Amino acid sequence: MIVITGGNGHLARQAITHVRKIAPRERVIAAVRRPEAATDLDVEVRYADYNDPGSLDSAFAGADQLLLVSGTEFGRRITQHTAAVEAAVGAGVSHIVYTSAPRVDTSDLVFAPEHIGSEQVIQQSGVDYTFLRNNWYHENYAPAIREAVRTGLIVGNAGDGALASAARQDYAEAAAVALVQDGHRNKTYELAGDVSWTYAQLASTVADVTGYAVTYRDIEPAERRGRLAAAGAGQGEIEAISGIEENISQGALAHTDGSLSRLIGHPTEALADGVRRILAG
Ligand SMILES: NC(=O)c1ccc[n+]([C@@H]2O[C@H](COP(=O)([O-])OP(=O)(O)OC[C@H]3O[C@@H](n4cnc5c(N)ncnc54)[C@H](OP(=O)(O)O)[C@@H]3O)[C@@H](O)[C@H]2O)c1
Repeated sequence: MIVITGGNGHLARQAITHVRKIAPRERVIAAVRRPEAATDLDVEVRYADYNDPGSLDSAFAGADQLLLVSGTEFGRRITQHTAAVEAAVGAGVSHIVYTSAPRVDTSDLVFAPEHIGSEQVIQQSGVDYTFLRNNWYHENYAPAIREAVRTGLIVGNAGDGALASAARQDYAEAAAVALVQDGHRNKTYELAGDVSWTYAQLASTVADVTGYAVTYRDIEPAERRGRLAAAGAGQGEIEAISGIEENISQGALAHTDGSLSRLIGHPTEALADGVRRILAG
């Protein structure tokens, strides 16, 4: 049986759909923090909260494979993922697929320490692993793309650094492949879109897709933080956004080697198609 955590989340829901194309319903379990929000899932649903180790033990009972979708509570994730790994070991899981972040072993990325710490916990457990080091989602830019249509402007402190985002759907498909196909155990994949882009290129892509004039204005990190605060963002969000953009300016998300398209067997969604899809949604 395959258990997928974060089962109500965007990535997990798409991964469940892809796994179900290959594996029968009886083989898939969605482990969710809020079962009441999962009634539309066409698989068995079990309660599992990363902060409640007992719930993980029950949710993983009988499982052979685990898709451990990284949690969302920054600063708590190593503890949470450790609880999940311990429950997986207790349940006799033989393979953990974990959603990590790009080049976490060498990167200055603000999220790297929690992901490398989590990868180490999984490796030290002795269970077979697959690390999916996912680059950014196109969808992370949905608010900026919509705002660009209104204002003609994309603002950030990413400089002319490139990032190789892909559609969340493509990463979800890769997770399903890593679970269901043979040959992916004890492998680490740096997953990214086929083509990297800069914020200036995002602006010109939005302009091409919509016909509106859109430009990118690069600003200093301090000004970026001030603007985010003025827009009502919390301190954690402000530090994460401006920190990531600083990482991008230094090239932390630029790497792409075609691993994602090879894994899923087709090209990743082009940025322009992602912009069209986001604006149509
Ligand atoms: N590569 C990227 O660009 C990128 C961007 C954003 C996030 N991420 C990472 O990738 C993961 C998947 O992305 P996503 O877009 O699917 O995120 P998402 O839609 O926010 O889904 C995250 C899921 O994790 C669940 N969760 C959070 N805390 C939990 C806990 N204590 N116990 C059990 N479940 C918990 C949430 O449950 P509820 O439904 O109950 O809230 C939610 O269903 C994220 O969690 C994050 O670690 C990556």
